[in-house]
Amino acid sequence: MFKAAVITCSDKGSKGLREDTSGPYIKEYLQSQGFTVIAQIMISDDLSAIEDALLHYTDKEVVDLIITTGGTGFSPRDNTPEATKKVIKRDVPGISEMLRYESYKVTKKAYLSRGVSGIRNRTLIINLPGSLKAVKENLVCLDNVFDHGLKILKHLDTDCGETN
Ligand code: MTE
Repeated sequence: MFKAAVITCSDKGSKGLREDTSGPYIKEYLQSQGFTVIAQIMISDDLSAIEDALLHYTDKEVVDLIITTGGTGFSPRDNTPEATKKVIKRDVPGISEMLRYESYKVTKKAYLSRGVSGIRNRTLIINLPGSLKAVKENLVCLDNVFDHGLKILKHLDTDCGETN
């Protein structure tokens, strides 16, 4: 059983000016995939707030997977990729490349997300865009993606074998 945390990055959400539907949706999705979601939190778009939250779930209350939502666009306050890049030690570009590639089939605006993915210690971090629509479209692409990678990350499985 893998543990996960969901972090919504939104200035408006953190001030109570917008309801967060994306975070709860990701939580439910992860639970449906067999994850234990130990936290689903909302923070502002502050770079340091995002960095602190990521570090909390990679180094203190350690989880196997962190999914962030929001703050991946072009606004000056969209800091999630920068905070994630400060925290990760290894890039996993393929996940974000795949998400943009698959999302592009739904909307050309997919390429406006600067979201990144990477690993710190034993935790995989994936940035998703903020809207519920985008979150749903991204999560569909992640079905059955985690299991093998997270097992390798946790040293539970080192044999890639035949893959499909
Ligand atoms: N990806 C998918 N699958 N569907 C979408 O509707 N919206 C895009 C992009 N990625 C979108 C998407 C848009 S319009 C923006 S501005 C960026 O994600 C960044 O969103 P964010 O700032 O909420 O993170």
